[in-house]
Amino acid sequence: MIEHRQHGLVGTIAVFFKYGIESHRDEIGYVIGLPWRGRGYATAAVQALTAMQFETRPQLVRMEAWVYAHNPASKRVLEKAGYATEGYCRSCYLKNGQLLDAWLLARLRGDR
Ligand SMILES: CC(C)(COP(=O)(O)OP(=O)(O)OC[C@H]1O[C@@H](n2cnc3c(N)ncnc32)[C@H](O)[C@@H]1OP(=O)(O)O)[C@@H](O)C(=O)NCCC(=O)NCCS
Repeated sequence: MIEHRQHGLVGTIAVFFKYGIESHRDEIGYVIGLPWRGRGYATAAVQALTAMQFETRPQLVRMEAWVYAHNPASKRVLEKAGYATEGYCRSCYLKNGQLLDAWLLARLRGDR
């Protein structure tokens, strides 16, 4: 949960433990409630959770995020949180019968 001191619950964020908790890599995902968007909350949450993962999981080297091409706000959030764009995956996802492109971004331990 992403909890704001005044507003309470404003969104959610998670790491997926996609490759197991001992893996050198993991993936992050997040959502901010509509009324609370555009206030920097996603950026702050991604920064905090990424830092916490690197601090508490010594073997973790790489945090990744996949972002639909039609979601520039999310890509911007990751860039502000120090994630670098690594690639563009064409027809990456099949959603509701539609093929969607996506960006891959990642932050490595030690990246500034
Ligand atoms: C994407 C999302 C998490 C952003 O949350 P947020 O709290 O509004 O994000 P922040 O306020 O921290 O930062 C948003 C940034 O995107 C920018 N932005 C917003 N709309 C944009 C657009 N259409 N094109 C480019 N940039 C955009 C903002 O200007 C801001 O950047 P800035 O600080 O440089 O001005 C939110 O819109 C959301 O929950 N969307 C639905 C779920 C989702 O897409 N999750 C991510 C899946 S990968």
